[in-house]
Amino acid sequence: MKNSVDMSFDMFIETEVPKDELIISRTDLTGNITYVNETFAQISGYKPEELIGKPHNVIRHPDMPKSVFSGLWKSLENEKTWSGYVKNLRKDRGYYWVHAQISGVYKEGKLVEYKSIREPVEPAKKIEMQNMYDKMRKEEENSCRIVLYTSCEKDEFP
Ligand SMILES: Cc1cc2nc3c(=O)[nH]c(=O)nc-3n(C[C@H](O)[C@H](O)[C@H](O)COP(=O)(O)O)c2cc1C
Repeated sequence: MKNSVDMSFDMFIETEVPKDELIISRTDLTGNITYVNETFAQISGYKPEELIGKPHNVIRHPDMPKSVFSGLWKSLENEKTWSGYVKNLRKDRGYYWVHAQISGVYKEGKLVEYKSIREPVEPAKKIEMQNMYDKMRKEEENSCRIVLYTSCEKDEFP
C-alpha cells in the first residue's frame, strides 16, 4: 500500500504533451465523457474504455481552482466557446498542462454535446498559470472560511 509521501511525490511527475498531435474529448451535456482520441488516452494514462461514460472531472487536478470550471460552465450555458489553461491529473497521479478550447457540438442547429481540443503549453506559461492558480485557490479557501455565530437562548437547552 502507498503511503502519503509516495502519493505526493507522484504528483510532481509531469507528462509533456506532444506538439504535433491533437488531444480531443467529447462529453454529453452534463460533462460525462462520450469520446476520447488515442492521444487523449495516452496523455492521461487511461485506456479509452476506462474514460467513456465517466464524468470529465475524473482527470481534475486538485491544483485547479473551482472558479475556472464555474467560468467554463457559465460560458457553455451561454453557448460561448471557452478557452483556458488546465492542469490535469493522470491515472498514475502525475500531471500534464494543456491549453483547451471547449465548445458546443451542434446537430441540425441543436446543441447535442460538448467538445474539447487541446494543445501544449510553453514552459514559462505553465509557471505563470501555476502561480496564478495557487493564488486563486488560496483566495477561494479564504472566502469559504466564514464562521456563522448564532446566539442560543439558554432556556432552549435543558
Ligand atoms: C468538453 C469538456 C471537456 C472538459 N475537459 C476537462 C479537462 O480536461 N479537465 C478537467 O479537469 N475538467 C474538464 N472539464 C470540466 C469538467 O466537466 C468539470 O467541470 C471539472 O473537472 C471540475 O469538476 P467539478 O465540476 O466536479 O468540480 C471539461 C468539460 C467539458 C464539457
